[in-house]
Amino acid sequence: MYVVKSPLSDANLKTVSEALQGALVDLVDLSLVAKQIHWNVVGPRFRSVHLQLDEVVTVARSHSDTVAERAAALGVSPDGRAATVAVGSGIGVTPEGWVDDTAAVGALVDALGAVIARMRERVTSTEEADPVSQDILIAVTADLEKQRWMFQAGNG
Ligand SMILES: [Fe+2]
Repeated sequence: MYVVKSPLSDANLKTVSEALQGALVDLVDLSLVAKQIHWNVVGPRFRSVHLQLDEVVTVARSHSDTVAERAAALGVSPDGRAATVAVGSGIGVTPEGWVDDTAAVGALVDALGAVIARMRERVTSTEEADPVSQDILIAVTADLEKQRWMFQAGNG
């Protein structure tokens, strides 16, 4: 078996690997939740909400890859399996079936808010342990906060 050696101390690696694994799980689930609502949204704002949801999917998928590969680069095996995501995600249960556009936007604001709160904790926890990983988590959080803004701005 090939071994990827980490440049970090054991203690710092534990902190950073928990942050990156948690971020991976949240981002994978966010991409799934956004697709679920993308398919199920109905109502007068269908088109704009439907398209906006795919922006979230793109952002979440892109960042999940970056976060997972950062973990791998540190010698930590990323776990993006469905069962792991189901157990570890910070996003609550997404309702089954059709969802009207206002509720769809509300669901995304809530989902993004839950992930952002956890990302900000990860930004804090990685500050000393690994500023390189922290930099990635900061960029992820900025993009998620931008997405949340765009949903909130459309739901008065
Ligand atoms: Fe689509």
